Amino acid sequence: MKFSLSTEARLAQLAQNYPPGRLKGAVIPMLMYCQDEVGYITPELAQEVATRCGVSTLEVEEVVGFYTMLRKQRMGKTHLQICTNISCLLTGGEELYEHACKKLGIGHNQVTEDYQISLEEVECIGACSWAPAIQTNYDFHHHVTIEKLDQIIDSLRTK
Ligand code: FES
Repeated sequence: MKFSLSTEARLAQLAQNYPPGRLKGAVIPMLMYCQDEVGYITPELAQEVATRCGVSTLEVEEVVGFYTMLRKQRMGKTHLQICTNISCLLTGGEELYEHACKKLGIGHNQVTEDYQISLEEVECIGACSWAPAIQTNYDFHHHVTIEKLDQIIDSLRTK
């Protein structure tokens, strides 16, 4: 399986961080890097990572099945995660999630027709002190209001 030059460079750099014979530990970051390019973990991609890390495809599939940040279906170019756990719940997280559902016309783990934005209601993302918090791909947004959420979504649509 071929990746872009930038992804191949990331994978090569990652492999250098592990001692010979210990690439098993690189499975998760390698899957994340590949997911960044492909959008989700296809069976072919799982097999590729297994080969590169010297583990079985089944072991990779077990990892993919366990971690929710590893996706088995195609999601949007931007994956919008809205926390509705306790700190965020108490500060408007649920209202943010419901607003995003209406604005985007999709629900939990669904994607817009143009595959630009997907939505996920998530548990704590570790930003409780700045609740309510959301995440767009690897970017965190704190103290989010409905107005701020609208701005974020609108900016994603114009990218
Ligand atoms: S409860 Fe929302 S970030 Fe922790």
